[in-house]
Amino acid sequence: MKPVKVGLFGLGTVGTGVVRIVEGHHEDLMSQVGSPITIHKILVKDRAKARSVSIDPSKLTEDPWEIVQDPEIDVIVEVMGGVEATKELILAALERGKHIVTANKDLMALHGPELLAKAQQKGCDIFYEASVAGGIPIIRTLIEGFSSDRITKIMGIVNGTTNYILTKMSQEGADYADVLKEAQELGYAEADPTSDVEGLDAARKMTILATLGFRATIDLADVDVKGISSVTQEDIRYAKRLGYEVKLLGIAERQDEYVSVSVQPTFVKTSHPIASVNGVFNAVYVHGEAVGETMFYGPGAGELPTATSIVADLVAVVKNAKLGVNGRQASISYKEKKLKSDKQIASKYFMLLHVEDRAGVLMQIAQVFADYDVSIESVMQPPTPDRKGAELIIITHEASKDSMNRVLQAFQDLSTVRTIKSLYRVEG
Ligand code: NAP
Ligand code: HSE
Repeated sequence: MKPVKVGLFGLGTVGTGVVRIVEGHHEDLMSQVGSPITIHKILVKDRAKARSVSIDPSKLTEDPWEIVQDPEIDVIVEVMGGVEATKELILAALERGKHIVTANKDLMALHGPELLAKAQQKGCDIFYEASVAGGIPIIRTLIEGFSSDRITKIMGIVNGTTNYILTKMSQEGADYADVLKEAQELGYAEADPTSDVEGLDAARKMTILATLGFRATIDLADVDVKGISSVTQEDIRYAKRLGYEVKLLGIAERQDEYVSVSVQPTFVKTSHPIASVNGVFNAVYVHGEAVGETMFYGPGAGELPTATSIVADLVAVVKNAKLGVNGRQASISYKEKKLKSDKQIASKYFMLLHVEDRAGVLMQIAQVFADYDVSIESVMQPPTPDRKGAELIIITHEASKDSMNRVLQAFQDLSTVRTIKSLYRVEG
């Protein structure tokens, strides 16, 4: 049995997990694919660095071309990150007929269509199960498991760092800045947490999920993104009081042929299953016309969870090779992309306003909502003895984003509205 030789780009958190699983599950993997899978060469930045797995030092290289140009290597597993330089290496590897397995959501969100086209042209596979929600097999589920259905909605908690921060804020009453600092100390949040907390990491993952779910190429620029840095303890307290949790949700929706994708902190009814996804865990809720509601839950990151997805992709490559069908996946994005306008995007909203406390103000506020055809579901004005003015908490019925933008504009121009403190989408 000729071994399948793997070139590994990166021996950090995920790369180490890949080595552990390929070596630790060697017999099982061989039984499934009929050949031994071996790690042939490993690209690292610094060969002298101490490693937490035992590696034959002669396998380590600092030169990617040693792997790309090695005719013995069948598959490259890319777990080093980076976008432009990594893309060039992957294109060069595909050109030489090597299959690719990657965990790189940044690369796939930005250049997925180009890489997939190149792979198909060269008869190679490119699989990226680990790029979204680490250990949850959501990508293959969307491509294969839902192939017979028409997906109407995907909602994801796809960033563990922000879910950890929001969970701590909710469960312990801690402030955003304090929890972020703690998450950095624990190694959950990066030294520069911008990509996570401002929603960009989630947006990249939602670009991938929406493309697969709606069978049309969704670009990162199509995603409306807002992160969690403006979420306050006051917002979370009101959410809980009204029966909601605040979650950073990626939401991809389709109505007829029109789609929208967004990432934003959202009030989620506590009865919705996604509201109880806590800590660094991820979850993806998928609604299909035929199947109805489904949800997939698990670890979104980490050495072994992420590596299980990578090695499952490796198994798929080798099985395809045995069948002689590498690079023959049917086109995923066969539909034309049609984006919803703001008039077509609808949801319920939570709004917190600070207003003047005198006769007629509530009527003015209600009139603005009426002017833009936004119906109010509930209004609450809790007593605020220590504040000169009133606090109004409003939950709307479903309204278009366009109408809500007009309401916001009108409130900005209304002298009795002192501050628009918060506005959140409401789900569930
Ligand atoms: P990491 O711990 O920082 O490891 C990166 C590895 O790549 C290191 O071994 C590093 O070498 C090597 N490397 C980086 N740049 C290189 C370069 N220019 N030339 C040669 N070697 C280079 O990263 P990670 O957490 O494993 O993540 C890897 C990828 O998986 C990223 O795309 C990430 O987004 C994705 N991912 C990660 C997770 C997770 O749980 N960590 C989950 C899902 C997806 P040295 O060891 O010598 O420094
Ligand atoms: N920074 C990411 C997260 C890692 O917090 O979920 C996994 O992609």
